[in-house]
Amino acid sequence: MTLEEKIGQMTELNIDVVQDRSVKDHFQLSEALLDSVIGKYKVGSILNVPNGEAVGRQEWQDIITAIQKKSMKEIGIPCVYGVDQMHGTTYTDGGTLFPQGNNMGATFSRELVREGSRISAYETKAASIPWVYAPVVDLGREPRWSRIWENFGEDAFLNAEMGRESVLGFQGDDPNHIDQWHVAACLKHYMGYGVPTSGKDRTPSNISPQEMREKHFAPFLEAVHHGALTVMVNSQSNNGMPLHANYEYLTQWLKEDLQWDGMVVTDWADIVNLWSRDHIATSKKDAIRLAINAGIDMSMDPYSWDFCTLLKELVQEGKVPMRRIDDAVRRVLRLKYRTGLFEKPYYDWKAFPLFGSKEHAEKAREAARQSIVLLKNNGTLPLSVDQLPSTKKILVTGPNANSLRCLNGGWSVTWQGKHVDKHYPSMHTILKAMQQRFGAEHVIYEPGVTYNEEGDWWQENTAQIDKAVQAAASADVIVACVGENSYCETPGNLDDLSLSAQQQQLVRQLAATGKPIVLVLNEGRPRLVSDIEPLCAAVVHCMLPGNYGGDALADLLSGDANFSAKLPFTYPRHQAALTKYDYKPCEQVETMSGAYNYNAVVSVQWAFGFGLSYTTFAYSNLRVDHPQFTADDLLTFTVDVTNTGTVAGREPVLLFASDLVASLTPDNRRLRAFDKTPLLQPGQTVTMTLRVKGSDLAFVGYDGKWVLEAGDFRIQAGTEVLTVTCTTDKRWSTPNRD
Ligand code: BGC
Repeated sequence: MTLEEKIGQMTELNIDVVQDRSVKDHFQLSEALLDSVIGKYKVGSILNVPNGEAVGRQEWQDIITAIQKKSMKEIGIPCVYGVDQMHGTTYTDGGTLFPQGNNMGATFSRELVREGSRISAYETKAASIPWVYAPVVDLGREPRWSRIWENFGEDAFLNAEMGRESVLGFQGDDPNHIDQWHVAACLKHYMGYGVPTSGKDRTPSNISPQEMREKHFAPFLEAVHHGALTVMVNSQSNNGMPLHANYEYLTQWLKEDLQWDGMVVTDWADIVNLWSRDHIATSKKDAIRLAINAGIDMSMDPYSWDFCTLLKELVQEGKVPMRRIDDAVRRVLRLKYRTGLFEKPYYDWKAFPLFGSKEHAEKAREAARQSIVLLKNNGTLPLSVDQLPSTKKILVTGPNANSLRCLNGGWSVTWQGKHVDKHYPSMHTILKAMQQRFGAEHVIYEPGVTYNEEGDWWQENTAQIDKAVQAAASADVIVACVGENSYCETPGNLDDLSLSAQQQQLVRQLAATGKPIVLVLNEGRPRLVSDIEPLCAAVVHCMLPGNYGGDALADLLSGDANFSAKLPFTYPRHQAALTKYDYKPCEQVETMSGAYNYNAVVSVQWAFGFGLSYTTFAYSNLRVDHPQFTADDLLTFTVDVTNTGTVAGREPVLLFASDLVASLTPDNRRLRAFDKTPLLQPGQTVTMTLRVKGSDLAFVGYDGKWVLEAGDFRIQAGTEVLTVTCTTDKRWSTPNRD
């Protein structure tokens, strides 16, 4: 290959770049622009949905077939096309939209995560697309952040487990031979994106080297070990160094230490940002030099292809070595071979009959059911309306009650999540699902507050709370659906984490009627509700459950199904107390003696791992086969879980470990294992087995090296506690304890 051909393979452009803009009513490829982009510059990758909104399978097939034919003719190498299918089939009309990442984390079901990604892969391939920018394994540890809902929650282990399952679902069993039904996954965003110090999207973080290795790197390590083919880089900087220029993280940690031969793609225009935004390069060309030398293999510079010219000059000037170009191109080509693009660069959509099928819908509904968390219930739920006289009425209210857009959040049909309702007219909002389940005659609808659909995501119309209060007079129970409208990335930034003033006011005034309120939270991030929560009889956290979230909620509110989800993040109570479950002991000091008598108390609304059910579970007999252990032992814990209530239910069993004394102040506790019980009938007991390697209890010391120190660990599962003792120190000289 010539240098130009190689650099072309390292270039990714947005699909709009090859659009014929003289055609207005639909997306049309421009022959002239294809000649330039593919013919002249040999560009090897294209991303995104045409015109930013989901299109049908035939349209996708036409576009991708044309691009592939052109690529084969001009370059002899197929194009690798990529899209953000973030919670199912974001960008193909009629596809199946699953719950978002936080919800999938809340299921604590590996099986559902794998299945969701498998279905998403199948439906993506039905549009001839071989590559998805998912899963997101950022640790969502900053509740103000506008992207917290995209990942599996705040914990490193949960993201690692679910990230791995998602990769296996997307890619299938053999990453070297992705078959017709699977796609290449792209882990993102490498790494530390989830803790912007300012709380705003795409702003810097200050993660210590220990925490980076121990927590933020963990999901990438696990997924790479299980064959993840590509990685997308965090847009931002950590400790002043943009990730796109970080040789240590991109080349040493990821490629050398793991001997990973996959491909690293930038995020949106992020090489340019090294110059124009971050000021660590003197020009765009200088930024390209930094990024490629740091280990970037493909540049997503969506709207300009001067990357091709500038990188060529850098090679000719000796500023980027030829061996770096060859390495990057091998990685791109390996991806193309592995995804089978050389044999079959496009497909006939009719060969994918299960696209958007009932079968896929049922899986998405089950995932939604298992992802909605019951946070409070004074007995109002389930709503037993059908056993009562036909006069019994439910008031469904709030701005989220009648909106698929709200149920889905961002990355749904469009980037910001607008227009879902238009694309899926027959799907059920919460209101429609409630009417269907309880009978329209039992449901009154009066929103009280509505969003301004033409404005920014946070804009609301002038409230009509009085109307809702009047409607409440003839209702027996109120289901108040509050939260947020959809948003994505930087446009979703906020300045106040509280639930909007109008929505709080709606709940307050409804509470004054004396009717019991079921507060339904439908939001991407945990908006503060500490003032209104005490006014509510029950609280249900839907997060962003997707297109079947309304139906799933009706299944749960009616008691047709039981809740079985737990919070995958800490729900804060106060603006200035945004701690995580794995806080340090000093954050929870009761009283200091002497003159400095103060309280440092961790006060949260609902804790990580919290979630109720219509039944109760008792834990007993926590045991372990190695009460004394070394790094090389596998500790097998067993615990009996009994359904002590009156209805069937499933319980996620979470096993936490606390290192009682360590040379670096230890985390309060860490999730080290989890599993979900099967459906337990009342009175039924199951013995759950949870395994933890001795080495899993290690931490990264001050010197950046893994260490397991002799001493006691408190282990907790439900109400059960025991102590295990590490007998022997172990220090690893390898970066990843291999
Ligand atoms: C986002 C990524 C996404 C990419 C391509 C970026 O703005 O940060 O998550 O994959 O765009 O659409």
